[in-house]
Amino acid sequence: MLDRELKGELLSWYAATSARPGRELPWRGTRDPYAIWVSETMLQQTRAATAAPYWKRFLEAFPTVHSLAEAREDQVLALWSGLGYYRRARMLHAAARRVVATHGGTLPAQTSDLLALDGVGKYTAGAIASIAFKVRAAAVDGNVARVHARLFAIEEDVTGVDGSGRVWAIAARLAAIDEGEPGDWTQALMDLGATVCLPRQPRCNLCPLRGHCQALAFGAVGDLPRKKAKRAATEVRSVAIVLASKAAVLLALRQTDKLFGGLWEVPQGHWTAGSLLGAMRALANRIGVAPAELSARGEVTHVLSHRKMRVAVFCGHLDGCRRFALPGPDYSAIERVPLSELRKHTRPHATLTRKLLDMAKVPCKRLP
Ligand code: ADE
Repeated sequence: MLDRELKGELLSWYAATSARPGRELPWRGTRDPYAIWVSETMLQQTRAATAAPYWKRFLEAFPTVHSLAEAREDQVLALWSGLGYYRRARMLHAAARRVVATHGGTLPAQTSDLLALDGVGKYTAGAIASIAFKVRAAAVDGNVARVHARLFAIEEDVTGVDGSGRVWAIAARLAAIDEGEPGDWTQALMDLGATVCLPRQPRCNLCPLRGHCQALAFGAVGDLPRKKAKRAATEVRSVAIVLASKAAVLLALRQTDKLFGGLWEVPQGHWTAGSLLGAMRALANRIGVAPAELSARGEVTHVLSHRKMRVAVFCGHLDGCRRFALPGPDYSAIERVPLSELRKHTRPHATLTRKLLDMAKVPCKRLP
């Protein structure tokens, strides 16, 4: 009975808050399972406000599973450029091809069939099943796990096997209660985690579930969920050479099996030990530019989930060089890329590349 009450209270809160300005998330206006699948894939590692414009552009370019399945991978990656975790885009693309090949282009409604698709884990399968197909399935992401850890005073690490098992078991029990729309329940939990039950400084005074929250009753909100010790990020140092003119920049294509695979980037070389200038000269020789033509610009740092990248930037003029070599183990091509292609989302590249170009003052601001 308490579970049903809790569910009803959160659903009423969701009905009142999701209609308020500031929380108009574009995918909430669609009933198309494919469009919902794209949104949930983007939202796996990305905040809703960041994902929203990407989602709109992606659906304009690929409005159906068939259109995505027929696209080239570089077109898909170009529209993902800046969102990070590019493997998600490659898997979504592969899964779209599979949906066309084995399900006639219709996304399956059952969690078990969804789970068989590349890039669809338990969370994404639950989110799609509940939001797109009204199945009473649970979907637990980081926000939802935190909400459960506090509501039910779960002391175990919610990212570990035991803690995550407990969270999923409770989430499945609540999701199964025959109350409201399944998709509203999934998204109500997400919204509570994203706007009220925050990791630091939770806004318990605004919480519609404060009467049910065991962590609040025991004064333990700040202690839950328990954090496991974070693995320190590994520092990776490299050098980059930006060769640009007014209209173009020299970029290299990463081999697909590497980090940032399939994306174009400013050529980079390892700077593991020894002198920075030595590393710069080695890279300049690989590219085919004279080191004396280059000037130092500064360092760019970029943090990925387990890696902190420190990149020393050198730059020079593109017109001074006639012939470029580079490929080797990390790259499969090198090209003069018109800046207009970076502005218009037609050439796939990561945020790190934009940071390096900014450091070198290459004007390639993206058009909205
Ligand atoms: N995070 C993951 N899925 C979401 C959704 N459907 N709405 C808002 N935030 C989300």
